[in-house]
Amino acid sequence: MPDTPIVRIDGLNKWYGPFHALKDVSLQVAAGERLVICGPSGSGKSTLIRCINALEPFLNGRLEVAGIRLDERPASISRVREHVGMVFQHFHLFPHMSVADNCALAPVHVLGLDRRTARERAMRQLAKLRIADKADRYPAQLSGGQQQRVAIARALCLEPKVMLFDEPTSALDPEMVGEVLDSMVTLAESGMTMLVVTHEMGFARQVADRVVFMDGGAIVESAVPEHFFAHARSERAQQFLSKIIH
Ligand SMILES: Nc1ncnc2c1ncn2[C@@H]1O[C@H](COP(=O)(O)OP(=O)(O)OP(=O)(O)O)[C@@H](O)[C@H]1O
Ligand SMILES: [Mg+2]
Repeated sequence: MPDTPIVRIDGLNKWYGPFHALKDVSLQVAAGERLVICGPSGSGKSTLIRCINALEPFLNGRLEVAGIRLDERPASISRVREHVGMVFQHFHLFPHMSVADNCALAPVHVLGLDRRTARERAMRQLAKLRIADKADRYPAQLSGGQQQRVAIARALCLEPKVMLFDEPTSALDPEMVGEVLDSMVTLAESGMTMLVVTHEMGFARQVADRVVFMDGGAIVESAVPEHFFAHARSERAQQFLSKIIH
């Protein structure tokens, strides 16, 4: 079945205590598809992305990644995580480890690679992100943009089937946003399946196959970028766009 979605979400509901954070969210992402997820603050974008990586439990609904159904069993959680790379707003690199060691850590501990093979893999990914020359530096010796590119390389070292990004450029100084977006464009061109929470609408226009707009814990619209930007259907999406596109 060539069209089996790589991410399949059906009727997902999540509460934080009494607060209904995700309301019947359904979403299918095909292999190689690039999705941009946007929406106002508090609309549930991070919560959705974090559910896909089992960083948040959900109450009901069905979530499958690469054909593996995610439930609360630790085995299902670790099998799903083997296929999912995640890049956060703040890079979460270990400060006491070199760039190369940060990247080699998960391949050793999650995939069981020997150190040499893991290091070679780390160097390959760092080279792709054009940052191999910093392999022996510590994170604090790098700029924010460089640290975020290391974080992307680190996620790719697990050779994931899906990459999740949660506002990867919003903590960066403006002059560093471009280098990180360029790396993400290159990754998209390589055929990686990507779900990207971002307000970088230039990136969405350039790369996204689909834009998903969330509000109040629900997916309100899902459309190709040209349609979303030119003719957003809902008033909420129009309001949102009028605030972020000048
Ligand atoms: N751990 C938590 N406990 C309680 N409520 C939470 C928790 N995390 C998020 N929420 C609430 O759930 C809602 C959705 O949060 P979420 O972080 O997913 O939004 P978001 O769309 O990513 O927003 P932002 O654009 O500000 O990052 C918000 O109202 C938030 O306050
Ligand atoms: Mg968020």
